[in-house]
Amino acid sequence: MKTGVMERLAEIAARYDTDKSASHGYLGDFEEVLGDRRTKPTAVLELGVFHGGSMQMWRDYFASGPVVGLDLNQIEVPDTSGRIRTYAGSQDDAVLLDRIRAECAPDGFDLIIDDCSHIGRLTKASFWHLYPRHLRPGGIYVIEDWGTGYWDTWSDGHHFDPASDGPGLGRRAGRRIGSRLGRRPSLVGRLGRRIWRSFGPQHLPSHDYGMVGFIKQLVDECGMPDITAPGRGGLSPARPSTIQKMRLTTGHVFVFKPPAAD
Ligand SMILES: C[S@@+](CC[C@H](N)C(=O)[O-])C[C@H]1O[C@@H](n2cnc3c(N)ncnc32)[C@H](O)[C@@H]1O
Repeated sequence: MKTGVMERLAEIAARYDTDKSASHGYLGDFEEVLGDRRTKPTAVLELGVFHGGSMQMWRDYFASGPVVGLDLNQIEVPDTSGRIRTYAGSQDDAVLLDRIRAECAPDGFDLIIDDCSHIGRLTKASFWHLYPRHLRPGGIYVIEDWGTGYWDTWSDGHHFDPASDGPGLGRRAGRRIGSRLGRRPSLVGRLGRRIWRSFGPQHLPSHDYGMVGFIKQLVDECGMPDITAPGRGGLSPARPSTIQKMRLTTGHVFVFKPPAAD
């Protein structure tokens, strides 16, 4: 490792076996978000570590702090710093996740990266266990490769149907049946429908399979102040979002946890 000059993340990644360098823009995304934290003690947990190359990269990038990895497979990562630890198990094993935090980062993690199954259900289970309990206030939770939800080849993915961005399925089917039966709505009916379309609730359906569906659920969590707005949103009691902000790129979602109140 070079000293004095701060190495770019891409230079560090080039030394190790990590697929983060293969994906155009991934390392730049990370640097933009994490650059300010680099010199501070940073406790990192990565879910899904393959051969451990990304853990070595994080160890060299952050000045200090534990770098902990969880993978289905038991792996050994060459490391003389003593900062790297690995665990074998599944990302949705809540008991194991609690143990990892207790053994490696009793004060919680500053950065959690999910580069694991890329399956919506498992990603959701890890997120809602780790984010509230084991990510420190002001910490960042990163979800990689959320676009698998657009792939038929992924176990819970589905190809994108442009019609999912069009009128609702029910309305389209109704129109088709109506035209088959040769029924034309009355003038009053047509007028009423036009007014309803202009001023009534507008439903814009969208793709919600697998990871894509989970990321859209996180958007709902960001909307919690409006969802629970007294007299407006429909849900009570009123509460703020547990998410301070989200940053979405083509490959990543960065979820920022609010800092501790003063
Ligand atoms: C894309 S690779 C990780 C790459 C690594 N983070 C890097 O940047 O080089 C995904 C890893 O997730 C692991 N994995 C898949 N499903 C998992 C699960 N349910 N729980 C834990 N690990 C899982 C796989 O064994 C694999 O090593």
